[in-house]
Amino acid sequence: MSGHQYVWINGDLVPQERAFVPLYDHGMLYGDGLFEGIRVYNNRVFKLEEHVARLYGSAQALNIVLPAAPAAIRAAILGTARANGHANGYIRVTVTRGTGLGLDPKHIKTPANVYISCEQLSLYPQEMYETGLIVATVSTRLPSPDVIDPRVKCTGKYINNILAKAEANRQGAGEGLMLTREGYVGEATGDNLFLVKNGALTTPPASLGILQGITRDTVIDLALGMGLSVTEPLITLYDVYNADEAFLTGTAAEVIPAVQFDGRTIGDGKPGPITRRLIAAFRKHTQTTGVPVG
Ligand SMILES: Cc1ncc(COP(=O)(O)O)c(C=O)c1O
Repeated sequence: MSGHQYVWINGDLVPQERAFVPLYDHGMLYGDGLFEGIRVYNNRVFKLEEHVARLYGSAQALNIVLPAAPAAIRAAILGTARANGHANGYIRVTVTRGTGLGLDPKHIKTPANVYISCEQLSLYPQEMYETGLIVATVSTRLPSPDVIDPRVKCTGKYINNILAKAEANRQGAGEGLMLTREGYVGEATGDNLFLVKNGALTTPPASLGILQGITRDTVIDLALGMGLSVTEPLITLYDVYNADEAFLTGTAAEVIPAVQFDGRTIGDGKPGPITRRLIAAFRKHTQTTGVPVG
């Protein structure tokens, strides 16, 4: 089927040009939905089980009942990847509460809607992985976990991240760093932050109100496997500006060095040795693990 793009909609693979979302989809009307971004590397879906588990965790928190069991959703993801034929691609799974006008969920007369697409994606040009990103702290704060639990990867919450990204763009930065209401460092608009100081890694704690990224977990495992120390202390901008190295992690961004924050150069302004080792280890790991698309 390669050559055409297909989207999985509620059980059917539909050519992308005929893939439409209902006008009264609750995700469209109110941002009442969830999503996952998943990578295909070397014809294998990376961390498939973890992403589907996070999707179900988000659904449980929002009381959205998926119309299929995790095994069927995993099969649909693999089927969509297969239909689109990208050896390396980016899968987007979106689930919305269903279709119906009005805030009240009892007006929804359909099961939850499930949409799965698979495209090619390169978020940043390849040379940025060599030279490193410029990051700007933005004024848009992270929502506090007493409003929306950060572990819920819900579509509506992302308006905040979009505003933060636009702020970073206006500052000429590749990413925007968001702080909590108290001023602790949280995460970037679509990525988690890691710092390296005196050979040890730190990353903000997930309990602070950030997404517990699957790439973040992968990098922690790889770093521990290399014998490096990884801790999750509260981090302030002082720690960021005084780090020896910094990098961001995310499914879309992968592992990318960050060499400048708010005009402060990190280390010698080049991706550091630990960052480079972790990027190499991450790339190797992505090529050899994952569920074959088939
Ligand atoms: C706000 C936010 N933080 C962090 C991440 C990184 O998470 P993951 O590594 O699971 O993609 C993402 C992307 O999913 C995100 O949207």
